[in-house]
Amino acid sequence: MILPIVAYGDPVLKKEAEEIDQDYPNLDQLIADMFETMYEASGVGLAAPQIGKSIRLFVVDGSPFAEDEDEEEPDPRAVDMEGFKQVFINPIIEEESGKEWGFAEGCLSIPKIREEVMRKERIKISYFDQNWQLKEEEFDGYKARIIQHEYDHIEGVLFTDHLSVLKKRLLTKRLANISQGIVEVDYRMKFPNTKKGR
Ligand code: NI
Repeated sequence: MILPIVAYGDPVLKKEAEEIDQDYPNLDQLIADMFETMYEASGVGLAAPQIGKSIRLFVVDGSPFAEDEDEEEPDPRAVDMEGFKQVFINPIIEEESGKEWGFAEGCLSIPKIREEVMRKERIKISYFDQNWQLKEEEFDGYKARIIQHEYDHIEGVLFTDHLSVLKKRLLTKRLANISQGIVEVDYRMKFPNTKKGR
């Protein structure tokens, strides 16, 4: 089932999300719905707060970042992106390392805005997978980037929070418009500051 994606301005996006346990009701269905919702919106990641649930869960599929194999100068950050599809439950980023690099991030909750965000190259993360197996893994490149962005969501942080005061001020009007539903978007959203919803 496709769920409406919560837009910028909804308080759920600013809340630190709660851990869940194995008794969480209908978790497999929720995860399947989150993947379906993410694909419908052409996203590479979706965190539970974005569908209105303040829990520590996100899904990713980095396949759109995969390159054609005959690319002349392969992007080292795109290595193994094909099939990078995972579920992260109760994740903890244990460590971030390497040089900071900039990438123009977008967010399904903030349609039509992309801005460069600086993040470190590598992360070490522990989490439970969908079968409640505890994992600890390291990621770099675009994988790390997607995970860092989604992890921020369960901490109540948006990519716009990483921008300079000046840059954010330049976006004020557009962000206010998004929260009111004044934006062209081709997937289902829920806007906090409009009476009708949509
Ligand atoms: Ni996002």
